[in-house]
Amino acid sequence: MTYIDVSQPEPAVVATGIVKHFGPRAVLSNVDITVMRSQVHALIGANGSGKSTLSKIIAGFYRRDGGHISISGNAVPVNAGVAGTEAYGVRVVHQDLGLIDGVSVLENIAVGKGYTRTRVGTIDWGATNRRARAALAMVGLEGLDPAAAVDKLATWQRVAVACARALFDGLERVRLLILDEITAALPPGEVRLVLDLVRRLKELGAGILYVTHRFEEVMDVTDHITVLRDGKLLVSVPTSQTTTRQLVEWVSGDKVPEVDAVRTRIVSDVAVLEIDRLTTSRLKNVSLTISKGEICGVIGRAGCGRSALGRTLFGKERIVSGSLTLSGQRFTPHHPRDAIIRGVAYVPQDRQRAGILPGASVRENFTITNLSKITRGGRISGGRERGLVAQLIRHHNVIPADSEASIHNLSGGNQQKIVVGRWDLTDNILFVLDEPTEGVDAAARASIYNHIRACAAGGAAVLLLSSSLEEIADVCTRAICLTDGRITHEIEGDALNVRNMEHLLVGQISDFSPPPEPRRAMD
Ligand SMILES: Nc1ncnc2c1ncn2[C@@H]1O[C@H](COP(=O)(O)OP(=O)(O)OP(=O)(O)O)[C@@H](O)[C@H]1O
Ligand SMILES: [Mg+2]
Repeated sequence: MTYIDVSQPEPAVVATGIVKHFGPRAVLSNVDITVMRSQVHALIGANGSGKSTLSKIIAGFYRRDGGHISISGNAVPVNAGVAGTEAYGVRVVHQDLGLIDGVSVLENIAVGKGYTRTRVGTIDWGATNRRARAALAMVGLEGLDPAAAVDKLATWQRVAVACARALFDGLERVRLLILDEITAALPPGEVRLVLDLVRRLKELGAGILYVTHRFEEVMDVTDHITVLRDGKLLVSVPTSQTTTRQLVEWVSGDKVPEVDAVRTRIVSDVAVLEIDRLTTSRLKNVSLTISKGEICGVIGRAGCGRSALGRTLFGKERIVSGSLTLSGQRFTPHHPRDAIIRGVAYVPQDRQRAGILPGASVRENFTITNLSKITRGGRISGGRERGLVAQLIRHHNVIPADSEASIHNLSGGNQQKIVVGRWDLTDNILFVLDEPTEGVDAAARASIYNHIRACAAGGAAVLLLSSSLEEIADVCTRAICLTDGRITHEIEGDALNVRNMEHLLVGQISDFSPPPEPRRAMD
């Protein structure tokens, strides 16, 4: 048994004077941060403020241009790289978790981390299994069979498996665990389970750098908070000495637009979208009508078919039976282009894989949906294009305000502003938005809500697929609940509140037992 002595507060990482430039732009200027062991340290700031860049520098993904980093008292050379930094004890769990579906929990945990070998060099499955079980026990999944398929797990369990992988090659070596937005897009009821997991990880003795946009979580689970603004350290305080209101001010300044408090009334009972007994590989007999001006939310647990519904409406999933009608005419999308022609706007959940045009510029990512607005006689008009893109960048507050920047080099939240904003100027009658505010800061979230309302007020129908019940309660006029691909409930009017929806969904997760008390030791 190796115990980590957590009785003496000791820094896990001390970073001072960190500087990073991308080309001529200073992205981090003289930033200091110290994360203690057994401390959950929040790193917060607006989209593009430098959180991911700082995390990536500490983890060795990026080389710093200036400053000093030491981990448990050992100076980390500037060229340590990812492998070198790992050897100092830094581990990262990214928002996308990096799990491979269709593969077992065991393989996901052990791949790339070294299987235990027998004396003749073959994989010692017995020993690898035991190590994997020990890592799973550390994250509260002691009962989980390592042979289970990772895609069959609840979302919070997938987060826990990703953490188990980070701890797999020996907890005694882990000094700092960086958790980058791991609670984005968790189904309701599961956020609590992931926060329990974070508390449990803290008890194991490593320092935890916790990157998030959710202030309730910051107040709930962290001990200390560092706020970045425009690549500079704004403030670093113990969580107990601040308030949510103060955090909003530090992160957003005075930039948070007011969200229109009045729910959009249904302006018409003219149906825009009629879904009649729709059945696909994921949906069963779904019937739903959405009228002009209506914002209809869709809630449900992970795997309920919510995203599948969005993909089907955008021609990305095959319809097995049933029919769709759009503005009174039969609608059978076989391909996204069929949907776009009929006036369907779509924001997919998976921004990296399905949302952005990778390798293309901000300009190209904006204009892909607006080609008809910038072409004349079949040719792109450069002047029109520049004007249009400048307008969209300004309106959505995209940072940097550079139309030629590669979309890859934008922060996650700024990419999301483009994926949502690119449908602004199109004449759409149906908006299908899957987690449109994932990863965006409070100011951008408020402006996306206002934008959704403006679309509905302009006569479009909106289908909002979201894991945030607050979002559904604030923005929607009605919501349906999907369970295993079927519509099981519908809520509207005053009944459309977080408590009722929680009640509906939490009833479905009563089979989740909370993880037992954390252990402070490992084999
Ligand atoms: N590889 C890169 N090349 C050029 N610029 C980059 C690169 N990576 C990040 N940047 C820029 O650095 C700034 C900080 O980005 P970063 O991703 O660190 O922000 P963030 O605080 O994590 O934001 P978000 O909340 O949106 O994830 C942004 O303006 C971004 O455009
Ligand atoms: Mg980021």
